[in-house]
Amino acid sequence: MGNPHKCLMIGAGGMAGAWIRSFLPTFAERLEVVGLVDVNEAPLSQSGDFLKLPADRRFTDYRRALDAVEADFAIIVVPPAHHTDIANACMTAGLDVLCEKPVADTWEKCLAMVAAQKQTGKKVQIIQNYRYTERILTFKDVLTSGRVGRLNYLLGRFAADYRVRNAWGKFRHEIPHALLVEGSVHHFDQLRNLAGGDCLTLAGFDWNPSWSSFDGESSGLYVMRFDSDVRGLYEGNCNEVGWQTSWHQEYYRAECEGGAVILDADNRVRVMEHTGGAHYTVADVPAIRPPLQGHQAQIGQFLDWLDGGAAPETVLSDNMKTAAMLFAAIEASETGRTIDVAAKAAEAS
Ligand SMILES: NC(=O)c1ccc[n+]([C@@H]2O[C@H](COP(=O)([O-])OP(=O)(O)OC[C@H]3O[C@@H](n4cnc5c(N)ncnc54)[C@H](O)[C@@H]3O)[C@@H](O)[C@H]2O)c1
Repeated sequence: MGNPHKCLMIGAGGMAGAWIRSFLPTFAERLEVVGLVDVNEAPLSQSGDFLKLPADRRFTDYRRALDAVEADFAIIVVPPAHHTDIANACMTAGLDVLCEKPVADTWEKCLAMVAAQKQTGKKVQIIQNYRYTERILTFKDVLTSGRVGRLNYLLGRFAADYRVRNAWGKFRHEIPHALLVEGSVHHFDQLRNLAGGDCLTLAGFDWNPSWSSFDGESSGLYVMRFDSDVRGLYEGNCNEVGWQTSWHQEYYRAECEGGAVILDADNRVRVMEHTGGAHYTVADVPAIRPPLQGHQAQIGQFLDWLDGGAAPETVLSDNMKTAAMLFAAIEASETGRTIDVAAKAAEAS
């Protein structure tokens, strides 16, 4: 193995704190954090101490960090409104980029990141950790094994109790279309992943119940069609009082030619198969256990890519098809129309 890749870590608190303390230590031999940025002094100091970084490697402005530190790539874990400015500056400075989802908080900023990537030729990967969890790998394996025949349609459901202000982190309770921008982008990506195709059209709406703790829209219902001839239905709710299917407990159901595959909050993957007449069997599927899951799987893929390996599934160019679903959902909500997602995604190609 060669020298570790030099990493500029942008974001030190919130989710970035989990990256620094839980995800990155696994890769201690493959990457070295050589600089840390956060606009907020408290997380900068706490995470800087954890990383044992000297004071001259800690920055409150990413532009100063890019001037002062020699790095091979940047990890960006700050709110989506800042992703494009930071990613584009990093690419211009010659760094590859591993960035948290969503690509950005507006479609125009997503396109601007694509333009910078094309201009600089740098590698950019967007995190979609939920594709690589044990429960989803197991669910997808049943679908692709052919055990229940062809896939007809998919249901995805996310529902969490965020009725207390700031229960989902401060900025999410303040931004427009909070469910979609911060939540549903994961589930749209998952529906693409499970459908084995890209979204063609999408319709539906998001809204904000009068009793919610959000300024922006926090509930949503959408239907969609994929180019794999699969249909999808999505329910998202940040105001759930009853049946919780929150993070890592999302409900997915695949209705197939020969049965159904069901994944609920208990994380068991069940297959319901028709055995003739009015008879059905219900069986648990043994879990697939990959060596690295979620974020760690994605960090490993990115480092392999830097080392000359294959491009990961969630590179920017591919993840723009997920971003197109997100911004089509916003457009559908605002216009009441069915949106041509394929045409939107083509704007980025
Ligand atoms: N993939 C996942 O499972 C997952 C989970 C949670 C969050 N996220 C993503 O991680 C990102 C950060 O979310 P969060 O909840 O940690 O947000 P947050 O509000 O907690 O911010 C994270 C850190 O970024 C810092 N920051 C804000 N603006 C900055 C800037 N311009 N420059 C440098 N630092 C800045 C903040 O001070 C904070 O310490 C978002 O894109 C979010 O969608 C992903």
